[in-house]
Amino acid sequence: MTKKLVKKYYAEYGIKEWKRLARDPYHRLEFDTTMYFLKKYLPKKSLILDAGGGPGRYTIKLAKMGHNIILLDLTQELLEIAKRRIKKEKVQNKVEQIIQGSIDELSMFENDAFDVVICLGGVLSHIVNKKQREKAISELIRVTKKNSQIFVSVIGRLAVCMNSINYLWPEMLEAPDVYKKFTIKGDYLGGYGFAPAHFYSPEELKKEFEGKTKFLEMVGLEGIFSTHPRRYNRVYKLKKYNKILGETHLKTCTHPNIAGISEHFMIICKK
Ligand SMILES: C[S@@+](CC[C@H](N)C(=O)[O-])C[C@H]1O[C@@H](n2cnc3c(N)ncnc32)[C@H](O)[C@@H]1O
Repeated sequence: MTKKLVKKYYAEYGIKEWKRLARDPYHRLEFDTTMYFLKKYLPKKSLILDAGGGPGRYTIKLAKMGHNIILLDLTQELLEIAKRRIKKEKVQNKVEQIIQGSIDELSMFENDAFDVVICLGGVLSHIVNKKQREKAISELIRVTKKNSQIFVSVIGRLAVCMNSINYLWPEMLEAPDVYKKFTIKGDYLGGYGFAPAHFYSPEELKKEFEGKTKFLEMVGLEGIFSTHPRRYNRVYKLKKYNKILGETHLKTCTHPNIAGISEHFMIICKK
């Protein structure tokens, strides 16, 4: 049921999802920080599964870097955007397949099929049911080669709570059950302008991968700037502070507490 709502949300969101990561400097933090850490670990010329890759921003970037990619996503409309963009960027030869499917059911791939698996931008968060999420995690791990890396970024619960003060108060407080559910448990079933989602704490995400993979790093993608888009964009546009902003971000984004307050955070682990 929630899968249907998620699909509907992204089908309607369409081109806005392609623009999301390049919308402004604040949104680019998610993309640039993720790319920084992908580059840190990626072996040259890998075969990568972009699981929930949507309109294909990471697929295209990684293809341009010489990797081969299989792009999988739940939402056909976003895959159509990806196909057009891939063609426009002339990287069709690096994108081996574009598949409509769900990360909790990857039976089309053999065990150990990929050098690297990425599942970015809250794909896992869109599976609200815990058992189904566990199935998705075990599928992502199953298709990753032994000793290879898995990168998963999710939506952070505390940042959603903080953002709700700015964007959803007081309306949300009129629905105390909904409010309590997403602030305390992290579960949100939709109805307030966003697709159903499970908002994570870092400890919880780490626990879900524990025992099945070796933990490498946790990264707060918007880091210390989280929940301050307007202020960050304004200062960034002045240009003269960009060096100090970038340096401070990279020095702090792997601090254990920073993931907890980030809008998105990423776990990096090794099978
Ligand atoms: C915020 S977008 C992120 C897209 C891309 N990974 C990125 O970071 O730019 C979330 C994506 O998750 C996809 N998605 C949601 N649930 C999914 C599932 N169960 N399996 C595969 N994709 C899913 C949506 O269709 C959407 O493309």
